Amino acid sequence: MEPNGHTFLEKVLTIVREEQDESRPLIEFKHPKQLEEILDLDVTEGVDDKKLEACVRQVLQHSVKTDRVTFRNQLYGGTDPYGLSGAWLAEAFNTSQYTFEVAPAFTLIELKMIQHILQLFGIPEGDGIFSPGGSMSMFYGIVAARHRAFPEVKAKGMRGLPELVLFTSEDSHYSIKKAAHWLGFGTESIKVVKTNQCGQLIVPELDIAIQREKDAGRCPLFVNATAGTTVLGAIDDLVAVSDVCKKHNVWMHVDACWGGSLILSQKYRNKLNGIERADSISWNPHKMAGAPLQCSVFVVRERGLLHSSNAAAAQYLFHQDKFYDVSYDTGDKSVQCGRKIDAFKLWMMWKARGDSGLSSLCDHTMDIARFCLHTVENKPGFRLVCDNLQCPNVCFWYIPKFMRGRKEDEKWWEVMHKITPKIKELLTLSSRLMVAYSPVRQYKNFFRLAFTFHPIVQEKDVLAMLQAIEECGEQVTLDML
Ligand SMILES: Cc1ncc(COP(=O)(O)O)c(C=O)c1O
Repeated sequence: MEPNGHTFLEKVLTIVREEQDESRPLIEFKHPKQLEEILDLDVTEGVDDKKLEACVRQVLQHSVKTDRVTFRNQLYGGTDPYGLSGAWLAEAFNTSQYTFEVAPAFTLIELKMIQHILQLFGIPEGDGIFSPGGSMSMFYGIVAARHRAFPEVKAKGMRGLPELVLFTSEDSHYSIKKAAHWLGFGTESIKVVKTNQCGQLIVPELDIAIQREKDAGRCPLFVNATAGTTVLGAIDDLVAVSDVCKKHNVWMHVDACWGGSLILSQKYRNKLNGIERADSISWNPHKMAGAPLQCSVFVVRERGLLHSSNAAAAQYLFHQDKFYDVSYDTGDKSVQCGRKIDAFKLWMMWKARGDSGLSSLCDHTMDIARFCLHTVENKPGFRLVCDNLQCPNVCFWYIPKFMRGRKEDEKWWEVMHKITPKIKELLTLSSRLMVAYSPVRQYKNFFRLAFTFHPIVQEKDVLAMLQAIEECGEQVTLDML
């Protein structure tokens, strides 16, 4: 008999448990060609379940165990177990979020989540949609801004419009470049505004930049403020940005993909003061809050704008003569047709933990980041890039002993620029820690330890991570660089 897959499905949870067991290394790094030799990837001939299990286990063996405390490579990490349950259930009930007909309960869940999130962000009358990631949410923001200013674009395109310009900070996420290109503005339409040392947009410079564009006869359309920059975790002064946007009548979007999770915390949400003045906000619960990838929300102040800017009114799907209230067919607010029920994962987490449970997780995450920051500040050989904790990002260099006490001129920094990636390589190859590094502006390559809600990190874990960086750092010699 042909294998039907159902028996295999029963086994999957056991396989996951065994392959994610703590005894398994975080990563067994192999270069692409080596890995290609190891894995049995060919699909020409079908295999029985036993062989399939062996193949799957091999794949998992060579996959990164992102659920570990030592996985600090990106802004996502371990998942909330309730969120993961939601993700598995959502996959099992395989449906699309576009119509009430095929996703009745899931539609109500998405609407409830959006309403709850709008309340938290302080724009209760707004609207929103779950989108496939923060980059797509940037597209939604720009399209909404353009539609409000020039609704004719939907039918006629950009011809005949004044030259539109977008503003963002030099530390902001690159998704605005992709959006500017895809939406026909062109990347040169982005005006980049300088940031201060800790990565916050310098608001008076924004004011000057907008005025300069106006004086040159161009049309400022959209300001992208950031609440939690990718590397330094900087939160722009949203109140001041809003004042400038109001003064010039420009759309204010807040990219809160990373820092938006602070809204969950009673203690830390004031870091996002001013976000309630935004025209639109993007937030990725799949980053700090640990919802399984992908789980991303776009919200907008003006109700109805999402629908009018994106609707295509397909008659085969969004019929107006259905037997139920078609205002619950929310899919035409989206640029997608089929759309995963990402809201359900978040709802599962929230339903289980409530506002206060998520608030405590956020507080712990910030507390552990603060502990890390203070430890780094006082630990010989470590040096902070910025000592102002905005989001749970701690950025620093490790300076090996042989580099200390020397003149820190350009040449010295060029060596440091090579040392950080070398330490990362040693950490990865020894499976001790996967950590991000980056240069930012004038700063040469440094480490970014960013903390997330899951798995819960303890102080001893932070000390072990720093110890690993120090030990690998001391293995680096000049000949290795
Ligand atoms: C600040 C910020 N905005 C947007 C994004 C893009 O989000 P996504 O990866 O979901 O497209 C990222 C990704 O890291 C980010 O850090």
